[in-house]
Amino acid sequence: MSRLFRTKDIDKLLAGARDPARRLQKTLGPWSLTALGVGAVIGAGIFVLTGTAAAGEVRHIESILHAPLLDLLLQGTAAASTLGRPGAGPGITLSFVLVAIACGFAALCYAELASMIPVAGSAYTYAYATMGEIIAWIIGWDLILEYAVGNMAVAVGFSAYFNDILHVLFGVELPTYLSSPVIAGGQYTGAWFNFPPFLILMLLTVLLVRGIRESAGANNVMVIIKILAIVVFAVFAAPAVKMENWHPFMPNGFSGVLTGAAIVFFAYIGFDSVSTAAEECRNPQRDLPIGIVSSLIVCTIMYMSVALVLTGIANWKTLNNAAPVANALRTLGFDGVRKWVDIGAIAGLLSVLLVFQYGQARVWFAMSRDRLLPDVFSKVHPRYQTPHVSTWIAGLFVGIPAGIWDIGTLADLTNIGTLFAFIIVSAGVIVLRRAQPERPRSFRVPWVPLLPAISIVSCLVLMTSLPLETWIRFVVWLALGLAVYFLYSRRRTAGLAD
Ligand code: ALA
Repeated sequence: MSRLFRTKDIDKLLAGARDPARRLQKTLGPWSLTALGVGAVIGAGIFVLTGTAAAGEVRHIESILHAPLLDLLLQGTAAASTLGRPGAGPGITLSFVLVAIACGFAALCYAELASMIPVAGSAYTYAYATMGEIIAWIIGWDLILEYAVGNMAVAVGFSAYFNDILHVLFGVELPTYLSSPVIAGGQYTGAWFNFPPFLILMLLTVLLVRGIRESAGANNVMVIIKILAIVVFAVFAAPAVKMENWHPFMPNGFSGVLTGAAIVFFAYIGFDSVSTAAEECRNPQRDLPIGIVSSLIVCTIMYMSVALVLTGIANWKTLNNAAPVANALRTLGFDGVRKWVDIGAIAGLLSVLLVFQYGQARVWFAMSRDRLLPDVFSKVHPRYQTPHVSTWIAGLFVGIPAGIWDIGTLADLTNIGTLFAFIIVSAGVIVLRRAQPERPRSFRVPWVPLLPAISIVSCLVLMTSLPLETWIRFVVWLALGLAVYFLYSRRRTAGLAD
């Protein structure tokens, strides 16, 4: 029993990361880290899910499975089963603010832990240092959900935009059987394989194996393009805003805003991945907090501008489609701006894919170094000094399902997994302040334990605003993880000294 909750000594973790055979190269500074964060954050969330969250989802089959858990608890199953998910309307702007505040609290907790434990692995490593092996395993397993399933959804979104831009720019249409999901909504579609998401993931894998310096350079270019596209949209579409589109501002009241917040939470996922780069930073103590908090601030400003302009130029009820921003522009006849937005969306989705593939490989790398996964996952390429085996495995693990399934709806599953990770990290700050008060922290969260406690409560509220079916999938995923731990990983760590 005690083995389940044994923790990893922070000094040993730091020493393990210095082992020359399994050491990563230190090349990243604050600008690259902020760009890495923004790169991971602005993507499918703002370009695709904002529309769904503003318009809401009316389900054709009445079912308690599709209702947000909070509505089920507050209104009872009979009322909630007929609701689907209420739209936030223009109030989606407020949803972005709510999520930013919740993420801000969690970001501060990430920053404290990341700056005191600058080792690859993010929340997984922090959990190992603070709450013990079993919690670390759960969170590592959960992070796979965040990065892998999240990236499958983003890759499928990439495919839709890629097909669209080929059409808009060159008038080329890829055959549907080679460029659309094989299974959509649980039904076989007749397509063979969705090649664009698979091929793009293979290309990004080659880039990541070649080295983080090159990958960060490519990422910086994509980040600039997507930020420019958002600015162009906000500036050129703003004159077309009609005040009547903003009335009523919250058509479904606060319940709509909260449900919208749980959906657009996806748009913020990724700033935490900055902390997965801790081991490759030149000066983690100073640069990690800067990277995490500044990427969050930049993204919040962008999202609020897009949300306000988007719900101002189009009626919120018209926004539930795969490319709400581009479609709203098309309706207005703004084709020049639309092309920019398309290019920005593609750049945005590419950079999200890149950073998530990067983070995923590092979580697996760290779990393998701790013997929870096979040793091959923590091999470092002799020339490029990158974890090449786990990078390739991550590429195939995400690329193949992305070529088969329509997994846009799995954004919800990604959200619940990530919110759970935020809760563990926030709890970790409280635990570690008590267990090791004297350990140096270059960044300290103010008002502990109050602030981490607020972070935990806000994440819980967002989690309960997700549908019951998402909760069921999440529990099944965690149960599968526990089975792997007890049948495989636990045996491998049995011989390790405490
Ligand atoms: N935040 C990322 C996105 O919106 C996951 O695509």
